[in-house]
Amino acid sequence: MTDTREDTALALDAEPDVALRRDDFLIPSASGGDFPLAAYLAGNSLGLQPRATRDEVLADLSAWEEYGVHGHLQAQRPWFPYHEDLRDPAARLVGALPREVVVMNSLTVNLHVLLASFYRPTAIRHRIVIEDRAFSSDSYAVRSHVAFRGHDPDTAVLRLKPRPGEDVLRTEDVVATLHDHAHSIATVMIGGVNYLTGEVMDMPTITAAGHEIGAFVGWDLAHAAGNIPLHLHDWDVDFAAWCSYKYLNSGPGAVAGAFVHERHLEDPQVPRLEGWWSTEPVGRFEMHPESAPQASADAWSMSNPPILAMGPVRTSLELFDEVGMAALRARSLRLTGYLRSLLEPLATSAGFAIITPAEDERHGAQLSVRVPVDADDLTARLYSNWGVVADDRRPDIVRLAPAPLYCTFHDCWRAAEALSQELTGKGIG
Ligand SMILES: Cc1ncc(COP(=O)(O)O)c(C=O)c1O
Repeated sequence: MTDTREDTALALDAEPDVALRRDDFLIPSASGGDFPLAAYLAGNSLGLQPRATRDEVLADLSAWEEYGVHGHLQAQRPWFPYHEDLRDPAARLVGALPREVVVMNSLTVNLHVLLASFYRPTAIRHRIVIEDRAFSSDSYAVRSHVAFRGHDPDTAVLRLKPRPGEDVLRTEDVVATLHDHAHSIATVMIGGVNYLTGEVMDMPTITAAGHEIGAFVGWDLAHAAGNIPLHLHDWDVDFAAWCSYKYLNSGPGAVAGAFVHERHLEDPQVPRLEGWWSTEPVGRFEMHPESAPQASADAWSMSNPPILAMGPVRTSLELFDEVGMAALRARSLRLTGYLRSLLEPLATSAGFAIITPAEDERHGAQLSVRVPVDADDLTARLYSNWGVVADDRRPDIVRLAPAPLYCTFHDCWRAAEALSQELTGKGIG
């Protein structure tokens, strides 16, 4: 029997946990309910602001004020090599070698930039594989990219569907589809954690299967970076991209990240779109007509980085380095497991179903709940009546994500209590 008492949640929160850094974050006020602060379970959509971020941004603004153009080299954190400082922590986050990652652009832009290199269709091998329930931007990116290369998106984009009556993909089905279309697939590009269902894909197995059929394999890690442990280098992934505004807490539209496996860095067969930031730094101001790229993912960067937007990424990565993904994941599994244990006994009476897989290796911090009412309306009521911030995808999915850095067991308890009150008219106790 699940212990549904509020006191139990509070007792769990009283236990020390190195991965809980709530005091380092600014928690929004609650809009309703009995508690002053929100139970913020929407960090899978937009992570909260770390307290240190404001000073970090102000320091870069001050450097601009003080140094003008000389800030490129003379600011306390000079702008010219600024992005290089983010390389090591970003690499640790995704399990890469430092030279395999670069912090740049935004997510969809990075997907396009990487597809330019890793989607190289021929008349026969022209297909690109995504999940049927890919985030819309990925689907648009892929379809437009395919059309840009002269192929028909309706036939060249292969969409992976769950079995009838099921919500999530099975690894064996993904692998079978790759083998069934082995000769026509150029590239596989899937979300590492599905945005809708919260399913964690078996990235090493699918990457290996893609390679077996001669395709490039890339991952959209929007919902994976900072959420689950990643080992992109060891998994032999060809390319990957992620945003920094969800679990990475770097602010709306924050600067994103990209990964290119070491083996592609010096391969002259891999074409690339370039700009002056692709060339090695020493020669950058010599204004040569031809670039001299470095053997690193920096070769894929084009423009000088938006310095005023880089500080929040730096702050965030420092926090992840301090805590470490192992401790964070351990806390995440406990929190999400606790939330599930509160929700499962309610499912029948409240008429909802948790569609996120239950096995540890198949989920991250998010539980997706299919509800029997309009999800948008329910989410609005959770917010205004109970101060619980969730997010939804129409028509019927509510997503609850206890981000382990700042969410508590009590936040999970509040979310379950609010859901129960809204759907059954009584609490969970
Ligand atoms: C899986 C996934 N892909 C793409 C995007 C779009 O990202 P951006 O607007 O940063 O390009 C999102 C945004 O939430 C996402 O979750």
